[in-house]
Amino acid sequence: MKVLVVFALVAAASAFSFLGDDDFSGFQKDESDGVPLAQKQHDINYLLYKVYEPLHNANLKTLADTFDPEAHASDYRDGGVAVLKLLKELEDHTLEEKQHYYSVFNATQREQAILLTNVLLQCQDWKTVISNAAYFRQRINEEEFVYALYTAAKHSPLAKNVVLPPIYEILPHFFTSNEVLQKAYKAKITATPGKFVTNFTGTPNNPEYRVAYFTEDIGLSNHYFNWHIEYPFWWNDTFGPHIERKGETFFWIHHQLNNRFDAERLSNHLDLVQKLHWDETLHDGFHPHTLYKYGSFFPVRPDDIHIENVDHVAEVHDLVVLENRIRDAIDHGYIIDKEGSKVDIKNEEGIDILGNIIESSLYSPNVEYYGSLNNLAHVLLGHQGDPHDKYHEAPSVLEHYETAIRDPAFYQLHKYIDDLFRKHKDRLPPYNKEELEFHGVAINNINIDGPLETYLEDYEYSLVNAVDDKDEVDNLEISTYIPRLKHKDFSFNVDIINNNNVDVLATIRIFAWPHRDSNGVIFPFNEGRWRAIELDKFFKTLKPGENHIVRKSVESSVTVPDVPSINTLHEKAEAALSGGSDLQLDQFVSATGLPNRLLIPKGNEAGVEFKLVVAVTDGAADAAINGLETFKKFHHYGYKGVYPDKKPHGYPLDRHVPDERIFHDIPNFAETIVKVFNHNEHIRHH
Ligand SMILES: *[C@@H]1O[C@H](CO)[C@@H](O)[C@H](O)[C@H]1NC(C)=O
Ligand SMILES: *[C@@H]1O[C@H](CO)[C@@H](O)[C@H](O)[C@H]1NC(C)=O
Ligand SMILES: *[C@@H]1O[C@H](CO)[C@@H](O)[C@H](O)[C@H]1NC(C)=O
Repeated sequence: MKVLVVFALVAAASAFSFLGDDDFSGFQKDESDGVPLAQKQHDINYLLYKVYEPLHNANLKTLADTFDPEAHASDYRDGGVAVLKLLKELEDHTLEEKQHYYSVFNATQREQAILLTNVLLQCQDWKTVISNAAYFRQRINEEEFVYALYTAAKHSPLAKNVVLPPIYEILPHFFTSNEVLQKAYKAKITATPGKFVTNFTGTPNNPEYRVAYFTEDIGLSNHYFNWHIEYPFWWNDTFGPHIERKGETFFWIHHQLNNRFDAERLSNHLDLVQKLHWDETLHDGFHPHTLYKYGSFFPVRPDDIHIENVDHVAEVHDLVVLENRIRDAIDHGYIIDKEGSKVDIKNEEGIDILGNIIESSLYSPNVEYYGSLNNLAHVLLGHQGDPHDKYHEAPSVLEHYETAIRDPAFYQLHKYIDDLFRKHKDRLPPYNKEELEFHGVAINNINIDGPLETYLEDYEYSLVNAVDDKDEVDNLEISTYIPRLKHKDFSFNVDIINNNNVDVLATIRIFAWPHRDSNGVIFPFNEGRWRAIELDKFFKTLKPGENHIVRKSVESSVTVPDVPSINTLHEKAEAALSGGSDLQLDQFVSATGLPNRLLIPKGNEAGVEFKLVVAVTDGAADAAINGLETFKKFHHYGYKGVYPDKKPHGYPLDRHVPDERIFHDIPNFAETIVKVFNHNEHIRHH
């Protein structure tokens, strides 16, 4: 296979090399099974390469043709129980056929994908993993396979440190407009390489077009998809380790997306997102301009609809009932579990229980009673263009993690859900001075070095997986490019004085919130803090006396570098294999954080004011694991359920602040106003 070199990505990789240490068990290379990581990467690359076609790799193809999944029960942790179950379904022809769409929100299809995920997770060695993957790739629905393989690779200890390719290059149909794909097909047929421009969907007649650079950011979609496969709502602890704080993280990731989106809107002179009301008009429609691989349209939703019951899915009233049960639980301060017992939620763990209930995940203590508000709402909203199934439309963008963030209704739904979380958080006692203080530690000064400035830059991604190959001819280079938001490098400077006579470990948390609403009115502290965007969180030993801390934007622990292109992944795996060298891709292993490019909101020509706040608290009290200071690559969402600190997401701004003077009175908290600029700079690569 011929691969193209994407120099920009190679450069990006070296810029992030500080993330390369192997000082945390979750990231250590596990080659104890003797299979080099590069081989595993190579196998995953080829299992996903042109997934709508037969395997292109001879080894894998032989496995697919000759492997007998039930021959060696001892190759599976469960003695082959899972694989026998899947084989039975295959034999009975109950599995989704190929050349048909798949949605994780469809219970039937999801359960089939999970069967395969479970088979892969039960495998005792790599050979068994790829043999099963190759075998079932030839036999089950393509998109079900992709979902199952991604999830298994994310969770299998055998696939540790394998980089999952960017989903927009594996399923390009989900992201690339039909207009562009038509050009790609033509290029393929005429054997002419092509590089095509992708425009954001819609026109300037639609105000939402101003924020399409955000909702249609493919790297952001990749982040959202990866988060969901790392924290699947359907995760059963029989598959692998319990995923800690899953419900809380569900709250936090969506809360941050909401806050980001509002900040983007303010940057573009748009109003804040209005939360969804089941009985009011849903103003913003959505037209995805994309087609499934086998021709079905991603459904369109017109503007100004009244939300309707959807046949065979749910009635609007069902959702209102679930919402009321959840509101009751919040007001009572407890939920009722399956056995009818009260479980207190008026405490730090309550948010986790609520998140599990609202999504809902298998960790929900009473799914019969609280249902699954979020998942049901995605499907109900997704079907509003055809509520009575008159046209039997395909699943909407809201019914795929890959694409949900493209639809404005996503943000309205999540604002509505966020409001429930806020109701709960606001019922917890506010932090008092003693809890917030850090004895003997004071911030003298905070400021920013370098411009807070964003710009657009074209990004090219491969469409090679979108076009079919009739024969084994060399691949043509067919790609598209789209502008992406980036920011110039800057650093946070924090001057801290430690009046203790000894070194102390500090947690430094940096947030920013828009200073004014769309009318120019300043957000009160208690409103602003709920809108805070988390910019960074890190740990630092403070020596006695003055400490000048410089933290670079590129180091932010809440972000990750964008995943390299499939071409780069192929090339690196092949180079490492042929040269017998190590694969140097560690920094891309977790795509769960936000892409670093998107660390700050867009801003505008005049500069958008943000309140920048820094909180320095007792790191020894916060720390959940050892060695936090030298450990540079945790992600604040945690990594496979390991979190750097014990404090809730969003601490210390996560609780109601009845009197903001409490923050002004503690010396270990500081705030200032900064401005974020965008001077309409667009770096083009064509
Ligand atoms: C879910 O998928 C199954 C199998 O393809 C299909 O029969 C069913 O209609 C789908 N359900 C919905 C609600 O679309
Ligand atoms: C993209 O936008 C440019 C500039 O507005 C326009 O010339 C071009 O035709 C558009 N391309 C597509 C595929 O819509
Ligand atoms: C989790 O898996 C086990 C074993 O397959 C099964 O018995 C149990 O019912 C599952 N739990 C849920 C909530 O589905």
